[in-house]
Amino acid sequence: MSTDYRRSMKLAGRNALVTGGASGIGAAVAESLAKAGATVTIVDIDNNLLEATGRRLGVRAEILDVSSSEAWTDFVAAHDHFDLVHLNAGITTRRNVLDGPSDPLLPPLIHLTDEEYRRAIGVNVDGVVFGARAVIPGMCERRAGDIVVTASVAAFVPIPPDPIYGLTKYAVSGLVKSLTARLAEFGVCISAICPGFVDTPLIGEQARDWIAELGMPLMKTQQVVDAVTASLTRRVNGAHWIVLPGQDPILHEQATFPFPTNTQ
Ligand SMILES: NC(=O)c1ccc[n+]([C@@H]2O[C@H](COP(=O)([O-])OP(=O)(O)OC[C@H]3O[C@@H](n4cnc5c(N)ncnc54)[C@H](O)[C@@H]3O)[C@@H](O)[C@H]2O)c1
Repeated sequence: MSTDYRRSMKLAGRNALVTGGASGIGAAVAESLAKAGATVTIVDIDNNLLEATGRRLGVRAEILDVSSSEAWTDFVAAHDHFDLVHLNAGITTRRNVLDGPSDPLLPPLIHLTDEEYRRAIGVNVDGVVFGARAVIPGMCERRAGDIVVTASVAAFVPIPPDPIYGLTKYAVSGLVKSLTARLAEFGVCISAICPGFVDTPLIGEQARDWIAELGMPLMKTQQVVDAVTASLTRRVNGAHWIVLPGQDPILHEQATFPFPTNTQ
């Protein structure tokens, strides 16, 4: 059986939701899911981009601020179920935060404002927690579903120019690991995608020079799409799929620890 056939078998006819789907990785994943026969909805806060991407891909496109708990409640109430949810929306702490190495003369966090901090936590952490909380009940009731979270290699390695970004990606990695066992009991699979640097609007012009100086090629979004496809077809619960230039997705399975899972 070919990989393509297995893939379309699992994705055709499924209701898919992609957050941050107007741009970059989210748009590429939405396009791939739609081509595989899924019924795709993309959500984003960038209205203009959202409309353009929705039209280009021929998928449903709706405004949703993932950092808003109320918005998630309203959104889920207004929709039929989702079988497959990619919690992907994310930002860096400051627009230019990756535009070069940290200033060696200044201590870290010195320029961080409360607003920047709350915004990064709001999109990157609250957006995943609220999104997961909104879709998990329906998935558990149907005893089926897949949740894929876009984390980053920053869940594994330090990212000195943006420590808050590193914090958020570490946080969602911990959430994925800790949800795994209970969700598995309901037939729901959750996993994380952990890309290195990808060629999307998230990476500003100066950042591109800096990344080039580090000798790290920017990856095409297709490499991340391949990792999402692997996570959806292989369904390794709790897996972290690491995406590095020129390599197939690397499966990092989580260590198990003998905690009972029904202690809450
Ligand atoms: N590009 C990279 O190098 C890279 C590497 C590792 C992980 N990631 C992660 O991949 C994910 C996608 O990033 P990308 O590179 O495609 O960037 P991108 O900027 O192209 O796309 C992110 C999208 O999220 C949307 N968004 C921002 N705040 C939102 C909110 N509150 N509600 C809904 N949507 C919101 C943006 O409008 C944008 O369309 C992010 O979680 C990012 O952290 C990116």
